Formats: sequence, C-alpha cells, structure tokens
Amino acid sequence: MNAPIKVLVLHGPNLNLTGFREPDVYGKKSLDEINEMIQLHAPQIGAEVRILQSNHEGVLIDTIQEHRQWAEGIVINPGGLTHTSVSLRDALVSVRLPVVEVHLSNVHAREEFRRHSMIAPVTVGQIVGFGPHGYLLGLTALVEMHRQQI
Ligand code: DQA
Repeated sequence: MNAPIKVLVLHGPNLNLTGFREPDVYGKKSLDEINEMIQLHAPQIGAEVRILQSNHEGVLIDTIQEHRQWAEGIVINPGGLTHTSVSLRDALVSVRLPVVEVHLSNVHAREEFRRHSMIAPVTVGQIVGFGPHGYLLGLTALVEMHRQQI
C-alpha cells in the first residue's frame, strides 16, 4: 500500500457562504457538506487532505507557504481572487507544487471578467462548472498525476 498523497485544499473569499450565496450559480450544498465530500473521497483514492477556507488573501498565502514541506499538491478555489491576485499566484509558484484550480460555476459562461484567471497559467489544470464534484475531480487528477498514471 502506497503512502497517501498529501493535498492542501483551499477555498477563497466568500466560499464560506456556499449554499446560501447565489444557490442557482454555486449550488445548495454548504461548504461543510462539500468538505465532508472531499474528506470522504480522499482516503478512497489514497489522499490525505487538509482543508482551509479564508476570506483573506494573506491567510491563504501564509497557509500555502506553511504547507510547502507537508503538501504534495494543492487544490484551490481562489474565489474572486482568481481574477485579481498576483500575490496568490506568486505564492503558488513559490512553493513549487502541482496546483489544480477549481470553480463551482463555469466561469467561462459568465461575465467577461470571470474568464480571465491570474492563477490558471501556473496550474496543471482548471476544473470549472461541475459544482462540488470539481474538488473530487481535482483531487483525483493530482493523485493520478503523482502516481504518474496521467
Ligand atoms: C468561483 C467563481 C469566481 O468568479 C467567484 O468570484 C467566486 C466563486 C466559483 O467557484 O465558481 O467566488 O470561484
């Protein structure tokens, strides 16, 4: 049995209100329910996760830096910071870990400003539009990449 792949899962600003906030866009599941899905899925695919949500860019950056030794990959939904944050992008580059960007909604089918991601160019890939399932897909992609199956 291989050791589990350690993955840091990050949710950015306003994602704590998922389920309440624009449910037609982001779905009806709460962040706790989504995190439970992630926690259940992780051991089934040989992953160990640490999950954090923050409304603060600096907290997300500190968390990324603090996990640079522990984590073997990062799944991140940067929320609105996706479209604006050079600092978050720099932090992700700095730790030299594979990153998957996840969005609940299909950002490419929404307002023009959501089509541009500061983060996407420094990731291995982006998963958008599959609701909470996107986190599970992202996690699976990182684990399979790590095991060099894709
Ligand atoms: C989001 C999309 C972003 O444009 C938005 O600012 C969010 C949520 C998503 O998961 O679809 O906060 O990241």
